[in-house]
Amino acid sequence: MIGQKEAVRTVTGWRGDANYFTPREYYTFVPEAVLDVLHGRAACVIFRGMVSHDVYSEVARRFWGSPHRRVRGAEAPGYYLGAYTWGKSTAEYLDESEIVNPILEDLLDIPGNPVKEFYDGLSRALAAEGCLVRTAEHRGRRSSIALLRSWHGAGDFALAPHDDDSQCTDPLMADFERTGVVGRPVAALNMCVENHEGGRLVLWNVRPDDESKRRLGVEFTGSPYPVEALEGSDVEYIEIDSGDVYVFNGAHVHAVEPNTDGLQTRTTILGMMGFIDDHTVATWS
Ligand SMILES: [Fe+2]
Repeated sequence: MIGQKEAVRTVTGWRGDANYFTPREYYTFVPEAVLDVLHGRAACVIFRGMVSHDVYSEVARRFWGSPHRRVRGAEAPGYYLGAYTWGKSTAEYLDESEIVNPILEDLLDIPGNPVKEFYDGLSRALAAEGCLVRTAEHRGRRSSIALLRSWHGAGDFALAPHDDDSQCTDPLMADFERTGVVGRPVAALNMCVENHEGGRLVLWNVRPDDESKRRLGVEFTGSPYPVEALEGSDVEYIEIDSGDVYVFNGAHVHAVEPNTDGLQTRTTILGMMGFIDDHTVATWS
């Protein structure tokens, strides 16, 4: 009985006020707004329709047509192209990144390349503060520039409630440059290139503390949080359409709802980023 009670105890942690937590929507790309997330002044910023129909359709077409697209299993079902860090050593991740980066660069090599537009804008905004953005590196090797994902999970969530900052403390990758973000905001970049009905982003107004993470056994993974453990936290359900780009503080517990039309096609270009020192924003995937 005690064990059951322990399992559903609500998480405790940091919660922001309404000004911080209410998603900030823009109808054009405002790179300075990304700095609000990177500096911890905002939980979530959304750039509606940043990627044009021609561009996102072409990215989706190339993703589904690529012989390099791979299947991801039970813990996050769907298809992907790119390298992800989850459960890998630094060497494994960088080996995979080395292989996929030319493939990703080729896939994204279209007029209006959204990844290039995003990072060019962010570079300009950061330069005004004397800072820069670059891929996370390790002994001269660089991270995967992005990860293309299509979520196929069914049930309550296509992607279960989780946080993105716990895995940055994974001892398997302790030597990786991303470790520098621990204790600073970890920003998740999402560019939606394909979405049908549903597929909302669910964002809870809590950054779980270490004690809650340890109790749930997610201190190095950030996943999964039982939804009962999130009761009492404010929550935002954010509609996402093709062409929308959004950046949020991944230390907040978040999830993706399944598509409601049975087509199960929510395809996104993903990236992670954060300050690793006072002047450098590093990216990984
Ligand atoms: Fe996430």
